[in-house]
Amino acid sequence: MPEDAGIERLIRSDLVNFGSYSPSTSPETLLGKIGVPLENIIKLDANENPYGCSPRVNQALATYPALNIYPDSGQAELRKLLQQYTGVGAQHIVASAGSDQLIDLLLRLFVESGDEVIDCIPTFAMFRFYIDLCRGIPVEVPRDESFAVRVDAVKAAITDKTKLILLATPNNPTGTIVPKKDILEILDIGLPVVVDEAYYEFTGQTVAPLVGRYKNLMVLRTFSKWAGLAGLRIGYGLFPAKIADYLLRIKEPYCVNVAALVAVRESLKDIDYLMSNVKKIIAERERLFGKLQKLKWLKPFPSQANFILCSMLNGRARELQQKLENRGILVRYFDQHLLRDSIRISVGKPEDSDTLIKALQEIGEEI
Ligand SMILES: Cc1ncc(COP(=O)(O)O)c(C=O)c1O
Repeated sequence: MPEDAGIERLIRSDLVNFGSYSPSTSPETLLGKIGVPLENIIKLDANENPYGCSPRVNQALATYPALNIYPDSGQAELRKLLQQYTGVGAQHIVASAGSDQLIDLLLRLFVESGDEVIDCIPTFAMFRFYIDLCRGIPVEVPRDESFAVRVDAVKAAITDKTKLILLATPNNPTGTIVPKKDILEILDIGLPVVVDEAYYEFTGQTVAPLVGRYKNLMVLRTFSKWAGLAGLRIGYGLFPAKIADYLLRIKEPYCVNVAALVAVRESLKDIDYLMSNVKKIIAERERLFGKLQKLKWLKPFPSQANFILCSMLNGRARELQQKLENRGILVRYFDQHLLRDSIRISVGKPEDSDTLIKALQEIGEEI
């Protein structure tokens, strides 16, 4: 058969026109397109950690002797390390190649074609991505105007087909948290609830101690943000022991590679250093927020994470994102229901904010 001829007939019909997740921009793809050298590009579009990982990780990986050996599929050492870090028993823990992979596994575990999943929009786009991928039906419950989850609306959206409720706290891209009392009220519905705490270390607020006490609570975490390990793909979740067992059965055996295991081991020996970087990012977030507030045409929303969402009072977000990109500054833009003409700026180093603000001031004069 010649390449491409009628291959769609054989592809799952619901995936033929599947819209992919729009990932952040890899600076190397901009080579030759913008007049800024690669090393000067300021990447504020994926909520990455501008301070990188612990130097202990680099040192340990440089001399790691056993890349030829598969990792332990039962994750014994990793789960024990995570038990020490979280205070939650190893029988409740499963690790994965980024917390994204656990969202995927949970959807596969609970959702069959036609089952409903509650998604409190606007929120992390990967939730919708995985719901669609496993033929679930997304039931989108809009947040209120300050981006708080409307608990009554969540309850009203439940049907006998609802299988999962997804909550991110702090939420991406809004930066808002879901107060503990709201999470408890939603848990009391009795359906499985996923609480995605990817940015936990930036708030210190968590429901992790409740795992095991609630048979329906599942908490997701990651090393991508606070520990600067986004590139190594390492996340984990805290689950009722029974669900952890099921996840261990359906995950790819070697989903966490040995480099990621070494990185977790070393990061957890260097928590003070990593948390000092988290503190710097929080301080910078507040400084940047103050500067953004001074721009008359942007409205920044308070954030509890490592990014700030801004809605534009004037002009188009796509154009702003392009203008910044041409200057070598990468941010994320949104133009959808509840996020009309909005941009999300990851918090970088102080010098990154200064360059960004100068660019925004110049662009503001053209708007
Ligand atoms: C709310 C939320 N959950 C999960 C993730 C994915 O993290 P990971 O890098 O561990 O896959 C992100 C990443 O941006 C996120 O914002």
